[in-house]
Amino acid sequence: MTSQLAILGGTPVRPQGYPDWPDVDEATVQAVADAVRSGRWGGFPYPGPQTAEFARRFAEIEGVKHAIPMANGTITMEVALKALGIGWGDEVIVPALTFAATAYAPLAAGALPVIVDVVPGTLAIDPDAVEAAITPRTKAILPVHLGQVMADMDRLEDIAARHGIAIIEDCAHSHGKQWRGQGAGAIGAFGSFSHQSSKILTAGEGGTLTTNSDELAERATSIIDCGRAKDPAEERYTFGANYRLSDIQAALLVAQVVKLEAQIVERAKAALYFEELMVGMDGVTLLDVDPRMTRRSFYRYIVRVDPEAFGGATNDLVCDALDEEGVGCWVGYPSLTRDDLFQPWLSRLPAAMEHADRLRPEAWHCPVSDRAGSTETVYLDENVFRAGRQGVEDAVTAIRKVRDAAGDLRSLIAAAG
Ligand SMILES: Cc1ncc(COP(=O)(O)O)c(C=O)c1O
Repeated sequence: MTSQLAILGGTPVRPQGYPDWPDVDEATVQAVADAVRSGRWGGFPYPGPQTAEFARRFAEIEGVKHAIPMANGTITMEVALKALGIGWGDEVIVPALTFAATAYAPLAAGALPVIVDVVPGTLAIDPDAVEAAITPRTKAILPVHLGQVMADMDRLEDIAARHGIAIIEDCAHSHGKQWRGQGAGAIGAFGSFSHQSSKILTAGEGGTLTTNSDELAERATSIIDCGRAKDPAEERYTFGANYRLSDIQAALLVAQVVKLEAQIVERAKAALYFEELMVGMDGVTLLDVDPRMTRRSFYRYIVRVDPEAFGGATNDLVCDALDEEGVGCWVGYPSLTRDDLFQPWLSRLPAAMEHADRLRPEAWHCPVSDRAGSTETVYLDENVFRAGRQGVEDAVTAIRKVRDAAGDLRSLIAAAG
């Protein structure tokens, strides 16, 4: 088969690729060296000087009273649930389209994740599905601000207030996003951020919990610090473990956070240009841009491909083809409803067993998420949006090239059997 597609031996659109992530610079190297020389490596006593400095700066960026750095962006959600007193017998509503951590956290706290569908326009949690899933056991909603979008916080806040339940925002993709001028993670009872290596504010590993509540901040801090009271003079313990962030990791965050603002602006500007160039690109659907999202920021930029326009290729083959063209991307998360880990009828949790009827496989169906996750989503790497106008133009050229080679993709699929 002869083809222009790089995946079939043709010349890639962008052989030089895109800028590296994380963004290593001398200031970061120096900050870590200084932290090492200081001898203050660990997280105890909590917070270390670098951790406290990062917390102050991050709280300012998100416009929130407290930022509590910790080990990663999974236990942040577990700690948030525990600080809210959510555990055995309780239910927490999560979207089907997310990383497994969002559903793992309720399980780790002892609660049952109840998985609901997402809306097609933004692929964020469907407020109507949330409302329909509420039972007397429901204690929290855990919306995810996936990729470049935010969940509909107006609807979710209204639902949470009417039912007296908490919102914990999964902001792993959302450093710097704003909804009606409020920072992501500053709207719900807690916001949960990840600093894992691919995230847009990284220390390799790490996470930060944000909250405006003094009381919740104190509880969360105690839970991650082996149950110690925030004020060491107080001999009061809660049930906790060591989830502290090390001060060396915090030094990385302090060095990286000063660049966050400029990187967010650069990506947002490039995203606007991308959206302009993608107008009229049949076979590729962009997610809705909600005007209530007053500040855009993203970890990866999600588009949906229509396999029919791509010769029957689903997102996995489209991603392979784009990667070969030099445009880094990824299929993203499969729907949690397809993940064996989260099949409630397999659970031994009393809450799940009591509700086995309601959670039977045939009821466990999230059509939007199922289809999007297994066939449609393409998550473009953040660095595609940090390479100037040419970087964006090359990505659009590559997408068009792959789509226009639908016949080659069809043959490739046939040849693979
Ligand atoms: C949506 C979402 N939530 C939570 C997490 C968990 O973050 P961490 O890897 O820091 O535990 C991730 C990380 O990939 C994520 O993408």
